[in-house]
Amino acid sequence: MPLSFRTVTTAAGQVTADLLAVPVGTGPALGPGADAVDDALEGGLRAFMEEAGFEGKAGQTLAVPTFGRLRAAAAVLVGIGELDELDADGLRRAGASVARAAKKAKSVATTIVELGADAPKLEPADAAQAFAEGVSLGAYRFLKYKGDAEAGRLERVIVVGKGGTRIAPALERGAAVAEAVVWARDIVNEPAGAKSPAAFADAAKRLLRGTGVTVKVLSGADLKAQKLGGVLGVGQGSDNPPRFVRLTYNPDGAKGSLALVGKGVVFDSGGLSLKTSSGMETMKTDMSGAAAVIAAMSVLSGAGVKTKVVGYVPMVENMPSGAAIRPGDVLRIRNGKTVEVLNTDAEGRLILADALSLASEDKPDAVVDLATLTGACMVALGDKVAGLMGNDAVWTDQVRAAADRAGEPVWPLPLPSEYRKQLESEVADLRNIGTGSYGGALTAGLFLREFVDGVPWAHLDIAGPARAGSDDGYIAKGGTGFGVRTLVELATGFTKPPKPKGAAKATKKAAKKSGKATKKSKRPKKK
Ligand code: BES
Ligand code: ZN
Ligand code: ZN
Repeated sequence: MPLSFRTVTTAAGQVTADLLAVPVGTGPALGPGADAVDDALEGGLRAFMEEAGFEGKAGQTLAVPTFGRLRAAAAVLVGIGELDELDADGLRRAGASVARAAKKAKSVATTIVELGADAPKLEPADAAQAFAEGVSLGAYRFLKYKGDAEAGRLERVIVVGKGGTRIAPALERGAAVAEAVVWARDIVNEPAGAKSPAAFADAAKRLLRGTGVTVKVLSGADLKAQKLGGVLGVGQGSDNPPRFVRLTYNPDGAKGSLALVGKGVVFDSGGLSLKTSSGMETMKTDMSGAAAVIAAMSVLSGAGVKTKVVGYVPMVENMPSGAAIRPGDVLRIRNGKTVEVLNTDAEGRLILADALSLASEDKPDAVVDLATLTGACMVALGDKVAGLMGNDAVWTDQVRAAADRAGEPVWPLPLPSEYRKQLESEVADLRNIGTGSYGGALTAGLFLREFVDGVPWAHLDIAGPARAGSDDGYIAKGGTGFGVRTLVELATGFTKPPKPKGAAKATKKAAKKSGKATKKSKRPKKK
């Protein structure tokens, strides 16, 4: 059940709740509501903090006795670090601390959103949204298959303060975005045996019912008719056949259009280029990009997004079998280009190639794809930062700014044309892996670029941050739902980037170089 948020103007000492959470910055700087707790301790709060070694550092919490002198049953101090430095992500983390401190409580009241001028970097509505996201996400655990684990009891959050009229809607927005992230986490954490492409597509349909998003699911003969050779090729080794899901959000009077593409490999065994047993352990999470796209689309209408947004989500299971694609096989992608599959474990780019081709045909103002694409990206940036590549600096800057606002770390990586020759094949237009041993995130990006035509494009390699190896703030071990918040931000603040210069020319040049007539590289005629 999602948490409910309510705002009240009652003084902190007079609020009825199971727990009152009061912020304290380093110094220590007592935040709003601390006076009520101090009264309960008859002026002994500072001495109590000192004795307990509580300094107000971010992440620190301290339960305080109240001797029944507050309306709230218990109180806790929540460290928020340097007030001068406190930003939206600090409030997300503080929200998570509150959720953790309130594990046994049903209701928690807090004055955290009321920091006001004490936290100069924080705008009150942003603070409220980030706090709501932090509490909701900090309370998250995936317990569906745990018989003995105790679920948290928290149901209600009471936000204390004068706030103003923008606080309540901001809390609502934060709760809605967090609910979408929770949906993504749940489906990413779901075992692959329970999320075949068909089941994943059904789950998307269920989520999006009544959200103003229409869902079209292609399977079987439709995939063939649409010439989705990458999706069909990767999917052919599994008993669970592939799907291609197209999601459309088209509000009245829409201004501009944005395409979202997400990698939906429900399980990546590597195919015949089989992964090791330990390499497969986390590969149920290889559909995190798809989950982020679907989840983000579920909140567009509620967030009042005025841009047309279309999601393109290929869903496959990458398995080895007598029917699987073999190293050396050649696939023909939707846009007519052929690919020699030299490693069946580089499958994400094959299904994304179809999706990016389809997206390009629809001529959106911009496209962004999210994919758990390469281990190489994790070597470059670690497991908390996504790699950002693209064909248009104005657009990648916009994506980066949205990610920064959302508190999801991304960092730019180049697409060096020098490395393009690593993708040349003797028998087809392209190989699906580079010839070198290094720079695998970049050759993957260069491969994807071949399927984007005339559209500003950004690519987020989320192999690292899609999954967390341990709990950290508002992130729980397992699927993180990375990208949902960035996509919602991006759609909300979308501005049309200028059309890329020479994109079509570059494609023609590449086709000429590989000895193919440009005609072949053109998209197939619609039937
Ligand atoms: N799904 C993996 C990438 C991945 C690896 C994501 C580890 C998260 C954690 C992808 O399909 C893959 O297997 N990529 C290969 C590419 C290689 C064969 C060129 C890789 O990164 O090793
Ligand atoms: Zn793979
Ligand atoms: Zn994969």
